[in-house]
Amino acid sequence: MQMHYVAVPEPGPPDVMELAVGPIPVVGDADVLIEVAAAGVNRPDVFQRLGKYPPPPGASPILGLEVAGRVAEVGRDVAQWNVGDAVCALVAGGGYAEYCAAPAVQCLPLPEGVSVVQAAAIPETFFTVWTNVFQRGRLALGETCLIHGGGSGIGTTAIQLAAATGARVFATVGSAEKCSVAVSLGAEDAFNYHTTDFVEAVRDRTKGRGVDVILDMVGGPYVARNIQALAIDGRLVQISFLQGSRMELDLHPIMTKRLTLTGSTLRPRSVAEKGALARDVHEHVWPLLESRRVRPVIDQTFPLANVVAAHRRIESSEHIGKIVLTVGR
Ligand SMILES: NC(=O)c1ccc[n+]([C@@H]2O[C@H](COP(=O)([O-])OP(=O)(O)OC[C@H]3O[C@@H](n4cnc5c(N)ncnc54)[C@H](OP(=O)(O)O)[C@@H]3O)[C@@H](O)[C@H]2O)c1
Repeated sequence: MQMHYVAVPEPGPPDVMELAVGPIPVVGDADVLIEVAAAGVNRPDVFQRLGKYPPPPGASPILGLEVAGRVAEVGRDVAQWNVGDAVCALVAGGGYAEYCAAPAVQCLPLPEGVSVVQAAAIPETFFTVWTNVFQRGRLALGETCLIHGGGSGIGTTAIQLAAATGARVFATVGSAEKCSVAVSLGAEDAFNYHTTDFVEAVRDRTKGRGVDVILDMVGGPYVARNIQALAIDGRLVQISFLQGSRMELDLHPIMTKRLTLTGSTLRPRSVAEKGALARDVHEHVWPLLESRRVRPVIDQTFPLANVVAAHRRIESSEHIGKIVLTVGR
């Protein structure tokens, strides 16, 4: 059996991608095969297309880290899913296709009241935010956090989940429109980094104390400034380094302010770790989605055949929230 999928014959700009025909993935004993209705687009897909983020060993080489659709086949050892179930799934690759294999433990039911397009935009960002802001960053009720990239898929998710936890939330963004969206999602204030120094702004809003948790994907010159913006016992959680990971840094404040510098990547973790994370997200985040206290912010959808336009849009950074590919047969 054959399917359409997005091929990247060589690393390069968005227009290297093309629709191709290839075999439907083979389903392992602990996997399900999903007939994909929608697939989320994430910044790491851009890095993979550019040849800078190869899939981990054993993962599908096809782009795409999250999908939603219906279960079309179940592996021999899978008891929790049946053919026809509506699911969304975190995958280590393979999402930009008509069919995608996923470990059964990395699938979750569609939250009630959430469309299949919205569901496809959930796993990669919500799992990433949960494990970084709450597990590593230990953000708690009454604390204060700063979310960089507040208009991104990750940022729009982090603002909502942090606000739902009862934290005070600040965000940095690159435009006035993104400032308004960040505030509408629950941020107390959002700072346009083109015009506002976030260290000064955060100190001002916290009466000089600083913030307890910072989620950062910028790195480079932000690292030293993040350390300045953290409160005593603050935690800096690094999920990317868009402006570089090498710098000269004075680490003395780690000692004097008792700071924690941490970070993580999701994709290379084991199926067992991702399964445990899926259970946590199901327990803590699904009720927030079903009560509509949080929702994936969808910027735009594109048909799978129009994947080049979808990648041009994410690379423009004009989008707010998530871009989703729709897959119709
Ligand atoms: N560690 C993990 O497990 C993990 C998992 C998923 C994603 N990530 C990372 O998290 C980040 C956000 O992912 P996403 O899919 O949500 O991305 P996204 O929606 O494309 O958002 C990235 C945002 O970052 C800002 N930006 C882009 N280039 C920048 C640069 N050079 N310097 C500063 N800001 C820049 C832009 O916002 P402005 O216009 O406001 O500047 C852009 O909208 C990415 O870096 C991605 O690699 C990490």
